[in-house]
Amino acid sequence: MTDSPETSDQPLGTRGGNRSLRPTSKRFLDFVTSGWGPRTDLGVTRSPAADFAAARRARLSARFPGARLVVPAGTPAVRSNDTDFRFRPHAAFAHLTGLGMEQEPQAVLVLHPVEDGAGDGGSGHHAVLYLNPPAGRDTEEFFADSAHGEFWVGARPALADIEVLTGITAEHLDGLRDALAKDAGADGVAILLLAGVDEAVDEVVAQIRADEAAGRSDERLAEALSELRLVKDEHELAQLQLAVDTTIEGFAKVVRALPAATAHRRGERVVEGTFLGHARQEGNDVGYHTIAAAGEHATTLHWTDNDGAVRDGELLLLDAGVEADSLYTADVTRTLPVNGTYTDAQRKVYQVVLDAADAAIAAIRPGIRFRDVHAAAMAVIADRVAAWGLLPVSAAESLDPDAQLHRRWMVHGTSHHLGLDVHDCAQARAEMYLDGVLEPGMVFTVEPGLYFKSDDLLVPEELRGIGVRIEDDVVVTEDGCRLLTGALARTPDDVEAWMAALRER
Ligand code: GLY
Ligand code: MN
Ligand code: MN
Repeated sequence: MTDSPETSDQPLGTRGGNRSLRPTSKRFLDFVTSGWGPRTDLGVTRSPAADFAAARRARLSARFPGARLVVPAGTPAVRSNDTDFRFRPHAAFAHLTGLGMEQEPQAVLVLHPVEDGAGDGGSGHHAVLYLNPPAGRDTEEFFADSAHGEFWVGARPALADIEVLTGITAEHLDGLRDALAKDAGADGVAILLLAGVDEAVDEVVAQIRADEAAGRSDERLAEALSELRLVKDEHELAQLQLAVDTTIEGFAKVVRALPAATAHRRGERVVEGTFLGHARQEGNDVGYHTIAAAGEHATTLHWTDNDGAVRDGELLLLDAGVEADSLYTADVTRTLPVNGTYTDAQRKVYQVVLDAADAAIAAIRPGIRFRDVHAAAMAVIADRVAAWGLLPVSAAESLDPDAQLHRRWMVHGTSHHLGLDVHDCAQARAEMYLDGVLEPGMVFTVEPGLYFKSDDLLVPEELRGIGVRIEDDVVVTEDGCRLLTGALARTPDDVEAWMAALRER
């Protein structure tokens, strides 16, 4: 093969266009941009999340008086070449705007400092959303821009639509740089940026900042945005319950699909596909890659290849969550007997994990520390594996922070906060998270497990190859907690009865 001398000078970055011919004649341009009826009214109404998002912004405002706060939605991540993943905004942006799946890439929320009390709702900030409004049909963007043009991506909200939807002032993205630069400088207004979300915004802010050290306070903003989400409001709790309820329906569909899964060489994909189809039909997506782990695969904590067979007599560990249109996600695991009945060995392991989960759930109430939930589950796990003779020390010795030998069979934590991100509030300080004190409205998982790998010579043969996790989502209440996942069978008897009933239908 020889180089073609005619084309080798063409810059690589422009060669993506070599595959098609777009007419560029003036006659075509005039023709394609004319003859269109009026824009469709999208019928936008105020989002039910709008008032809650306003209250969240007011709380953030109170933490950063006088500073300009910049929270980008982000841009789509590249999947390969010029193909992107479906866009999902940063959780902080979704939280502060109330925008779910209807949001816009490249949008930026800015909380401009104003005189104390003169801002939105009597706060010290005025919020403005900067975004790309749809171009008119008389522009080239309309038919030639595959990222924004309505010919390619469909009708998009105008700035006025966004204002109705969110109750936030909306302005053109072109005005962002000037808006951020206003009053900035060494003695001016400090900008705090949620960095690393949108490179273009990072660059604009870097150019405006006179003071290098300012970048370091960005971390305080990221931390505050995570901590702001630790306690869920009423709207968030309803969305999380919706995500869980939709997930439970998805689990039922998977049980009905088990005969198809056992008949397929890659039955785990049948399970994954069944759940994904449900999540896309009834919600926005899955909140994370589904773990459909049959047999020995259940002992691999994040088994997402899902390319194995699903066999009669084995367990299926299904860890899956529907993300609602609001972007709140469930995170649920059940470990099901593929043929509908647990063997004695499977039941024995399942019961220990269930007892650990129940102990953790019984401990949950306002005032205890997040880490105490894990400790309650671990006391049960250590006690039982010691009773089975698996430990070279007593349960009490194993529970010593310097030992922790029982963790060989459960190396992951028991709980994580749950919300817009499956592992929510990840930038919160340790004193607010692991060492934090539980408050009503916090939502987290309880997900103990036991994983006995088939080549683990320290466990009896009958237990090898068995992996069990039970994962529930709980909300802390005034005097304890409530299982958002309480409607999904948990005990071995209830799981068997639930599966049998589904199979009869
Ligand atoms: N599905 C991931 C987790 O349980 O944390
Ligand atoms: Mn989880
Ligand atoms: Mn999970």
